[in-house]
Amino acid sequence: MSDLPHFGPEFTWGVSTASYQIEGAVDEDGRGRSIWDEFSHTPGRVKDGDTGDVACDHYHRYRDDVALMADLGVDAYRFSISWPRIQPDGVRVEPRGLDFYDRLVDTLLEHGIEPSATLFHWDSPLALEADGGWENRDIAERFAEYARIVGERLSDRVTRWFTLNETVIFTLLGHGTGIHAPGKELGFGALQVAWHQLLAHGRSVQALRAAGARQVGPANNHTQVRPIDDSEASRDAAGLFDLIYNRAFLDPILLKSWPLAGIVDPVAQDGDLDLIAQPIDFLGINSYNPQYIGAAEPGAAIPFDMVTPEGLEYNDFGWPIIPDGFTQMLTGLKETYGDALPPILITENGGAFNETPGDDGRVRDQRRIDYTAAHLAALREAMDAGVDVRGYFHWSFMDNFEWAEGYSQRFGLTWVDYATQQRLPKDSFAWYRSVIDAQRAG
Ligand code: NOJ
Repeated sequence: MSDLPHFGPEFTWGVSTASYQIEGAVDEDGRGRSIWDEFSHTPGRVKDGDTGDVACDHYHRYRDDVALMADLGVDAYRFSISWPRIQPDGVRVEPRGLDFYDRLVDTLLEHGIEPSATLFHWDSPLALEADGGWENRDIAERFAEYARIVGERLSDRVTRWFTLNETVIFTLLGHGTGIHAPGKELGFGALQVAWHQLLAHGRSVQALRAAGARQVGPANNHTQVRPIDDSEASRDAAGLFDLIYNRAFLDPILLKSWPLAGIVDPVAQDGDLDLIAQPIDFLGINSYNPQYIGAAEPGAAIPFDMVTPEGLEYNDFGWPIIPDGFTQMLTGLKETYGDALPPILITENGGAFNETPGDDGRVRDQRRIDYTAAHLAALREAMDAGVDVRGYFHWSFMDNFEWAEGYSQRFGLTWVDYATQQRLPKDSFAWYRSVIDAQRAG
């Protein structure tokens, strides 16, 4: 788009998805159950009782989906690998699961699209829950073994690897509040799960490299934290939230330190931080909006409140649209980590804008276009201020299963009719293609 800033010829343009959100085919080719199968089939957990049983049926339609991605003109596609397809019971290897990702990777390469694989996007094998799942430190070793298996099969063709997706959300929503699978309500105790994910990250970086992986990094979620007002209590609460939400998941990797020492200390062993702080080639960042924080009532178990101020613009999920928060999140990381900050890839950004097809079959999702254009401009500002960002992956390529919200929230550039599985590129699809085209034209 000519009025968008330029990002240079080396910049990577992509789209993202995740296995449980799009694949369906949950009982095929030996796939085991994941914690999300169990959770979504538990009444009351997911809106309208939706499950990922069929989702976008991508498992069967991946060839058409990749052809559509080629029409979009992206350089790269970030997908995730379903651990229970590879190790249905967390141990035994299922060759048919590996074969699927092999075919997907080859299809992407045939279309000139760089396969960019996430090892873990929240769908761990249910069988591992019997031993405590992510509460058990042993899961890091299981994860390293899984990373070795897929790395040995695919790393000759996968351009870049993301280890774990949004460790913070899997910790806080999956294990802190129970809003996501596996539905545990451990409160601050969930930070032990964070530690095990950090260990799993470090061990999987080692395993992937040993298997010949080229580029490896995490896909974290980071948000700019804003105190709701200028009071000392709000500023303190925001400071604590920043430590828990952002720094607990990045300081161990980049600074070899735990920022909550004396506040919440995980059970750790000597040498853990050395394991976690493996050199990485990039930092993947998922980011959607800043988070406003106020102080909780005195004596509350959680000393901060996550608040959404009135009078802002929101997407259909109720998330505020504040593009300069995107710039400030990135420049803030540069200030905090300085030279320890590796090059950044934006691995997710987008919004739930639930426009439906008109009588003419067109989905006029101008709000997604506006959101994305504003966030790309905000990204360019951060780059101009010295933050080294190498790529942008829009969330998402197509509408999909939005976790506890089921199919009610639509983040796609492509409309999915879940009854017929028809794909319909939205206005934003054509717009994103024109952005990429214009960048290439120089
Ligand atoms: C973050 C997650 O990685 C992804 O799975 C989710 O659908 C989007 N954000 C939108 O909530």
